[in-house]
Amino acid sequence: MNSDKKIIIAIDGYSSSGKSTMARHLAKTIGYRYIDSGAMYRAVTLAAMRAGLVSRDMAPSSEAIAAILPGLSIDFEVVADGQNTMLNGENVEKDIRSLEVSSCVSPVAAIPEVRHALVDMQRLMGESKGIVMDGRDIGTVVFPAAEMKVFCDASAEKRASRRYKELTEKGAQVTYNEVLENVRSRDYIDENRDESPLRCAQDAVRLDNSEMTIDEQNEWLMNLYNRIVNG
Ligand code: CDP
Repeated sequence: MNSDKKIIIAIDGYSSSGKSTMARHLAKTIGYRYIDSGAMYRAVTLAAMRAGLVSRDMAPSSEAIAAILPGLSIDFEVVADGQNTMLNGENVEKDIRSLEVSSCVSPVAAIPEVRHALVDMQRLMGESKGIVMDGRDIGTVVFPAAEMKVFCDASAEKRASRRYKELTEKGAQVTYNEVLENVRSRDYIDENRDESPLRCAQDAVRLDNSEMTIDEQNEWLMNLYNRIVNG
């Protein structure tokens, strides 16, 4: 394959498995657009929380959440140090990363109407290729014909400690055990939902990055990309 030809790169895996970090880095290095599909599920969840349709103590109602979907526009604004998730024109990047949103997102993401609406948007974003998208179902459902697919994993403890560090560095008041519990419960819901559950695509390359540094995983991904596009 010629490296001038744009492809679709799908990076799936478990919660906090380092997908976004490596996907963002690869996209920047090769001049592709990066789409964080998880941020889209988080944005819908934030809108539902604000509308009082879901909370830590209240399971979401599919009908009520489906009804607010047509009024939501989700986009990304590229800035110097990454990108901001925009919900109806508002920058919600910080809000969607909270543990409150993390606690509500997987039940919302299991609602078929939510998945259908977001998968349609994601396919449109990938229409002209040249895209790196990360999530749970990118290589299996959104872009089953993606030319490059990766599936990431690491031990739950490693993933929780990375996410704990990230959240506390930003000033969040959370405990390691809360984060570990959230990682485990999202994994469980994501793997066991009826609609497009988290699965490794048959043709994905698996990566366990438990013992890898960020630089090592970036290098691993770049090497895989070069092998795929240059043969
Ligand atoms: O915390 P982490 O970065 O691992 O998760 P995320 O990528 O921000 O995704 C948040 C949640 O959205 C996941 O736990 C899934 O429940 C859901 N999700 C999904 O169902 N399908 C996707 N393609 C992406 C995320």
